[in-house]
Amino acid sequence: MSRPLSVALAGLGTVGGGVLKLLRDNADNVAARAGRAIAVTAVSARDRSRDRGVPLSGLRWYDDPVALAADPGVDVVVELIGGSEGPARALAEATIQAGKPLVTANKALLAIHGADLARQAEKRGVTLAFEAAVAGGIPVIKALREGLAGNRITAVAGILNGTCNYILTQMRERGREFAEVLADAQKLGYAEADPSFDIDGVDAAHKLAILAALAFGRPVAFDHVHVEGIRRVSALDIAFANELGYRIKLLGIARQTEAGIDTRVHPCMVPQSAPIATVDGVFNAVVAEGDFVGRVMLTGRGAGAGPTASAVAADLIDIARDRRTPVWGAAGAALSSAPSMPMDQHVGCYYLRLMVVDRPGVIADVTAILRDMGISLESMLQRGRSPGEAVPVVLVTHETQEGAMRQALAMIGKLPTVMEEPTLIRIEVS
Ligand code: NDP
Ligand code: HSE
Repeated sequence: MSRPLSVALAGLGTVGGGVLKLLRDNADNVAARAGRAIAVTAVSARDRSRDRGVPLSGLRWYDDPVALAADPGVDVVVELIGGSEGPARALAEATIQAGKPLVTANKALLAIHGADLARQAEKRGVTLAFEAAVAGGIPVIKALREGLAGNRITAVAGILNGTCNYILTQMRERGREFAEVLADAQKLGYAEADPSFDIDGVDAAHKLAILAALAFGRPVAFDHVHVEGIRRVSALDIAFANELGYRIKLLGIARQTEAGIDTRVHPCMVPQSAPIATVDGVFNAVVAEGDFVGRVMLTGRGAGAGPTASAVAADLIDIARDRRTPVWGAAGAALSSAPSMPMDQHVGCYYLRLMVVDRPGVIADVTAILRDMGISLESMLQRGRSPGEAVPVVLVTHETQEGAMRQALAMIGKLPTVMEEPTLIRIEVS
């Protein structure tokens, strides 16, 4: 066997700790697959005295993670600090400039600076590997970039945030409160350092931007992703979804359309019979559609120490074997400049929940606005009566254009009988 691959780990939190443990517990298995041992020799974190659950004796400690890149004894740097700027970005750039391969789980960094980092990596001829950045333990980067490389991908979509899926599942199955379940997800190591990235859909959007770049062979375009999170999904909406035969999931969807590439993250109602509706808890799912392969669905744990460490280890084994693929699947010069589709042009069916004063004529005002905007209704639900008080009313539309729906919503929200901001959830049937 060749000499061990010497790894520097920056960040010893949930994921860094998981990587240390995996490389120790599965050392023999990893060495057999890598063709040589993979050994962590240098580490960096903020707090040197913190117990990491794995002994750090014998490892070189750096207070400044960026210094890892220049350590002559280090072959490859693994960035597990997080954040699109600051030490994570500085370390990524320093590693590439030092001509060393970089492994990262940092989707924020890749979504925002991925195009530039890929250019730098290509110029220096070094690997930039990021299997752990999307969907935790699911090997989706390899699947899209290599396994499905012979196809034209027409769509890639899925449940891309374990924290949100865990929250929505617990709310539905156990009737638990949003804030309490989020605190649980944080304790389990699923959530981002700033959990608003999870619940506001930003983390899923980072991942979707990466998937879309791989699927459609264009540079990452995070700014073009339409993003909504799950803060406004209430227990009431979950109950109505159930009654209508749907489940609510936060989906990321990237689709090639005639008007350009449609990339969006938002809560969706999906039919209870759809395979993705049964993907619960911290599990993620990614569905890709290719012209020759048809539909492929991958599921697995999307967050947490073990699943994410599994993905980091896969990248390290590729590097140990010197298996290389261009960052986005094709060289920079071969990437396309396909335009993005504006969200206003999205066409679909909508669930609209209003809290209205229970008195005659209120529904007529709402439906008049929908009629004037050319929006056709499929069904309407009102549960309970409470004259003079607020009651929920649910409207489900036929296919309509987002722009018209938004204008209607703005007008409906201004009606004096509508007591709170309307809730809009898109319905995804395919
Ligand atoms: P944690 O917050 O658990 O760990 C972050 C680590 O970075 C800590 O060890 C911390 O040190 C260290 N760190 C922070 N700032 C500095 C600094 N300035 N210098 C040196 N070290 C620093 O994060 P996670 O492990 O959860 O996430 C790491 C990355 O992996 C992020 O990019 C995240 O998005 C991504 N990721 C996370 C997943 C998960 O399930 N948690 C799944 C997939 C990707 P200290 O411990 O001393 O405070
Ligand atoms: N916070 C992320 C999630 C971690 O919950 O999915 C995995 O990327």
